[in-house]
Amino acid sequence: MELKTLHEDQLQDKICVLIGTRPSIMKMGPIIQELTKREIGHFVIHAGQHYSFNMDNVFFNDLLLSSPNYRLDTVKDQKLHGEQTAEMLKGIERILLKEKPKVILVCGDANFNLAGALAGRKLRIKVGHVESGLRSNDWRMPEEHNRVMIDHISDYLYAPTEQARDNLIEDNVKGKIFVFGNTIVDSVLQYYEKANNESQIMRELDLTRDKYYLITLHREENVDFENVLREIIEGLNDISKQYPNIQLVFPIHPRTADRLRIFNLEERLHESGIKLIEPVGYLDFLVLIKNARLVLTDSGGIQEESCILHTPCVTIRETTERPETVEAGSNIIVGTSKERIKSGVYTMLNKKRIWKNPFGDGTTSKKIVNTILGDS
Ligand code: UD1
Ligand code: UDP
Repeated sequence: MELKTLHEDQLQDKICVLIGTRPSIMKMGPIIQELTKREIGHFVIHAGQHYSFNMDNVFFNDLLLSSPNYRLDTVKDQKLHGEQTAEMLKGIERILLKEKPKVILVCGDANFNLAGALAGRKLRIKVGHVESGLRSNDWRMPEEHNRVMIDHISDYLYAPTEQARDNLIEDNVKGKIFVFGNTIVDSVLQYYEKANNESQIMRELDLTRDKYYLITLHREENVDFENVLREIIEGLNDISKQYPNIQLVFPIHPRTADRLRIFNLEERLHESGIKLIEPVGYLDFLVLIKNARLVLTDSGGIQEESCILHTPCVTIRETTERPETVEAGSNIIVGTSKERIKSGVYTMLNKKRIWKNPFGDGTTSKKIVNTILGDS
């Protein structure tokens, strides 16, 4: 049996950037652009965890990114966490063996990042974890398992904030920690103006600034359990009735669309006049966040973006790995009971929209690339 790994002298002077889900494109996009601009050898693997046009391709168009060099196309058939992660690990490992980069960059907490970090670690390729050190301390979340595992096997830990650094120190990780902010700020600053100039979404959906609330939901612990999802939907229905001059707009993640169908809950949303739409592109979504009176979400990235764009956020979860947004005053964590969701809306409507973005000044990707060049 041949045991295959790589030796340091086989590694080549290039960087692998791994993407795989919707948010990873927005968060790695600025790093890919920085590498391209500075003509630094790199290639991009798309691990194929997300694949529908409106969860994937649309973002390459919006962010003006080239197609990935590699795309794993067998992953979409895998449904279980283990088989999905294993399929991506296998595919990424094959590409890494062929390309032999000196560093692989992964970003965040989705399964594909764990697959990429493991593949790199086992081949002795240095692993850089972008958005490292986040902790919800909610052990029900698959993302929390991934965060902890990835941080422990990474060489470079790019913590967005000092709190994230503290989490890493407390966890006694082995890699080198850097605090550079979050690349999502780079993206928002880079694309908001373009979005504002080009997006027609307000007109298409017949929306008026400050006259609608924007909703997203997709967390496994919220949408995969009928009683939890039903309670959230009832909360949204109540809000829709309570604020008759406000439109609720809900771009539905495919996981959630699937669960709403299975649990027969779609009708309940239609009944109360909530606008259900397909997921939209990034430029449209930035405009939707910015012009909303309020965001209700369980998304990680949207907690950050609403903070950056000065739109109050009600987070429909028990915990957050982005406590900085709560401390800044842009976000409240309300759990999943309809009464707490409603009182969270009331609280955030009465907040002044003045707070400081805690995630950096839009130079995170530049700083990350600088360290890779200097360090490895
Ligand atoms: C994943 C991540 C989550 C992240 C989210 C971003 C994990 C454990 N979860 O959750 O952390 O917040 O992505 O959106 O990695 N589907 C499609 N088309 C797609 C993608 C998914 O139809 O392009 C459907 C499929 O039925 C799939 C289901 O959505 O089985 C769930 O997709 P999956 O990637 O497994 O999990 P997400 O809920 O998207
Ligand atoms: N997003 C988008 N269109 C949508 C919903 C979300 O472009 O219809 C973007 C959003 O701006 C953010 C990212 O997708 O950058 C967040 O993805 P998601 O909520 O799926 O994942 P999470 O951040 O929770 O991992």
